[in-house]
Amino acid sequence: MCGIVGIVGQQPVSERLVYALKRLEYRGYDSAGIATIDGGALDRRRAEGKLVNLEARLNEQPLAGTIGIGHTRWATHGAPKERNAHPHFTAGIAVVHNGIIENFAELKDELTASGAEFHTETDTEVVAHLLARLRRDGIGRREAMFAMLRRLRGAYALAVLFEDDPLTIMAARNGPPLAIGHGDGEMFLGSDAIALAPFTNEITYLIDGDWAIIDKTGVHIFDIDGNVVARPRQVSSDVAYMVDKGNHRHFMEKEIYEQPEVISHALGHYINFIDNRVVPVWDIDFAKVPNLALSACGTAYLAGLIGKYWFERYARLPVEIDVASEFRYREIPLSPQSAALFISQSGETADTLASLRYCKEHGLKIGAVVNTRESTIARESDAVFPILAGPEIGVASTKAFTCQLAVLAALAVGAGRARGTVSEQEEQALVKSLAEMPRIMGQVLNSIQPKIELLSRELSKCRDVLYLGRGTSFPLAMEGALKLKEISYIHAEGYAAGELKHGPIALIDENMPVIVIAPHDRFFDKTVSNMQEVAARGGRIILITDEMGAAASKLDTMHTIVLPNVDEIIAPMIFALPIQLLAYHTAVVMGTDVDQPRNLAKSVTVE
Ligand code: F6R
Repeated sequence: MCGIVGIVGQQPVSERLVYALKRLEYRGYDSAGIATIDGGALDRRRAEGKLVNLEARLNEQPLAGTIGIGHTRWATHGAPKERNAHPHFTAGIAVVHNGIIENFAELKDELTASGAEFHTETDTEVVAHLLARLRRDGIGRREAMFAMLRRLRGAYALAVLFEDDPLTIMAARNGPPLAIGHGDGEMFLGSDAIALAPFTNEITYLIDGDWAIIDKTGVHIFDIDGNVVARPRQVSSDVAYMVDKGNHRHFMEKEIYEQPEVISHALGHYINFIDNRVVPVWDIDFAKVPNLALSACGTAYLAGLIGKYWFERYARLPVEIDVASEFRYREIPLSPQSAALFISQSGETADTLASLRYCKEHGLKIGAVVNTRESTIARESDAVFPILAGPEIGVASTKAFTCQLAVLAALAVGAGRARGTVSEQEEQALVKSLAEMPRIMGQVLNSIQPKIELLSRELSKCRDVLYLGRGTSFPLAMEGALKLKEISYIHAEGYAAGELKHGPIALIDENMPVIVIAPHDRFFDKTVSNMQEVAARGGRIILITDEMGAAASKLDTMHTIVLPNVDEIIAPMIFALPIQLLAYHTAVVMGTDVDQPRNLAKSVTVE
């Protein structure tokens, strides 16, 4: 959802700004730009599309200067064209922004009436004009920044350069994250610590309402009322990660194949492999919690939906779950005795954060299942459950999804023990199954690729695809459809298999592939009946099942993908692999941009 960077350096900054932006490209890639001050003059280079275009522009027209800011954009207001690319300039002021200024229309009218001329369709440009007007009125830079921020409503991470001060960057945060990096005689600014990793691992995070003045000697931070505040300087663990594709064509492929390793890392945090027990990691007394609220967005929400099946089944704990954009506005009656879990890879998703704050206001104990431990969602929670997936760069979530599932499964079993609904023997059996997962995942990844590639060639010719499943395979069917549509742009829907006859069956004909996710579990026979209904109407079935399911199903399918027989609790993670690979290879056949699909961004910090 846009990435911003800034450097106050001793050496030229333009190359380093672009390098840092590359590490933020997952946040948006509609256009990009940088601005520097050199010889007392502000200048910028911008380009539509990905960062390679900006690099090409900079090769033709380099930009000197030892202070600068940069931006990679995910368009909210205004088409993804160069004229709307940041930094925005007016009257010797340059601004980059991540977020949405909600009252921009009102501010724009006011500024236009007082003579400002707007050159973009963005909400951000009002920031530059507000500052320019304040400066014209004779107000100092620092006071102008403070006064400008008080006029803004909405979400923002901002970085500002004033041409008449070539030694300082000003920054502000309200919503989207902002990390300040401390270097050796240089200072840095970025949307996350990973962007700053090549330069420093010493980070200070601004909190909502903070604004800062940064020069090469350090940072001065102020709160929303202008008081000087101290924020801790910490050594970031995020920077330890290498962000490259290794031998893979795409980050998504790499991340799919990393799953056995990262899942075993995640499990190691929650289970004790020696005595096959769940490690008690949560300071919430599950025995006393009357119910659990779960909320998240997109793939993380679908992981939560699977988690609901587990918490209800193993811990007999009722779960209220909704997508965060609805949860936050539904005015759900909540009791302070309840607990709430928020699931987010980035830990920065605006709607998830708003739902968390809603629950916090109602006195619930808050837990965060996050990949980024230093994220806002993690920092605002009472308990943090890291999924330990490592950086996920591919915009389509894969390893974060299965790691979220692994953590939720362990927590549900732990909750079951606390509530006395899972016996010690059952706990050991469930944990043994979880511990088998990395090995089985490796086996599946090594065996199914040829079949999936074959199938992908057929899927790439389809206009629509239906995914079906029952029990935990139902959210997985939705995840399969989400993955396919977001990276191949083929229309796909996931349905509960039993819901087919209540509407979607009208779509079935010989052109509609129906992907059925059906491990040989207690729902298998019922799902087979639903497959019969599809077959009777000429639908083409692609069955993803296990060895027992393949032997039991007598149906004529277009393709059957056979996985090993596994225990029910790990089936969602194992069956996630073929649906991820299917989406991946279909997108590769279709030649789409797998890691950076159109219109999407990895971290969604606006509503
Ligand atoms: C889909 C995908 C998105 C995210 C969603 C939530 O592949 O990645 O649907 O799951 O935007 O993001 P986080 O988990 O960062 O809150």
